[in-house]
Amino acid sequence: MLRETFATRYVTPLREGGSLPGIVEADDLGTYVMKFTGAGQGRKSLVAEVICGELARRLGLRVPELVRMRLDPVIGLGEPDQEVQELLKASGGLNLGMDFLPGSLGFDPLAYEVGAAEAGRVVWFDALVNNVDRSWRNPNLLVWHGDLWLIDHGAALIWHHNWPTAATSAARPYDASDHALAPFAPDIASAAGDLGPRVTEELLASVLADVPDEWLDGEPGFDGPGAVRAAYVTALAARARTIAEHITLGAPSHDRPSRAPGWLTGRPHRESGAAR
Ligand SMILES: Nc1ncnc2c1ncn2[C@@H]1O[C@H](COP(=O)(O)OP(=O)(O)OP(=O)(O)O)[C@@H](O)[C@H]1O
Ligand SMILES: [Mg+2]
Repeated sequence: MLRETFATRYVTPLREGGSLPGIVEADDLGTYVMKFTGAGQGRKSLVAEVICGELARRLGLRVPELVRMRLDPVIGLGEPDQEVQELLKASGGLNLGMDFLPGSLGFDPLAYEVGAAEAGRVVWFDALVNNVDRSWRNPNLLVWHGDLWLIDHGAALIWHHNWPTAATSAARPYDASDHALAPFAPDIASAAGDLGPRVTEELLASVLADVPDEWLDGEPGFDGPGAVRAAYVTALAARARTIAEHITLGAPSHDRPSRAPGWLTGRPHRESGAAR
């Protein structure tokens, strides 16, 4: 189960986030990025954050710690922004917190080099969870102390918005052409060979145990949180077995900035065959 904390101070909204996450301090003296149950995206995006974040962590990818965060909307009383006030009022009770990485930078593919092995693991993982939110336009990757960290999985697991499609999702292709790490020659075959066999039903069940019951309760068509958890386990286990065959890495869209050789070193780029 995720650690539980209590929000003590709302610091500031993160305006670049579509769901209006906020920076919040908690009773453990930690600072967190808080994602609210009252946000328009709804509690399913928090379920996706927990499942994907904790699955990625168990597969050895870096994800900031996730915690359960209790919120008393009274902490927003002095908040001048009407939109933030409304969000806090609608989010009393249990929300999600992600450890805030101070001084982290948004990933810039022109300024940061990723190895083929790591790129392969991230692309394979994103294909597994149908994450369309890791494109070069919106990478949802942070660089912190020289390492790559994964954030923002709220839009993944798209099939949980329409459960009858979950069974067929296993064979649904994943187009990684515009993925933020596509230019780093992702070694998807190695990633699949290493990570695929680790995504067992046991591992997935331990991940699903981290999702609070109250975010699974009342799901139409299911007889309680246990049945919903089992459906996630079945869908992800099936996809893990075959997803590598369904990943395509085509040409990126034409407006993608290119990684010119020499950019990182500052040396001017010479066309091959040019005089030395
Ligand atoms: N743990 C963190 N540490 C530091 N900064 C973070 C962290 N999590 C998020 N941020 C910053 O806040 C921004 C918004 O967060 P996030 O992408 O999770 O929100 P969102 O509302 O889901 O965004 P989107 O608009 O991509 O849907 C990120 O782009 C990043 O700049
Ligand atoms: Mg984001």
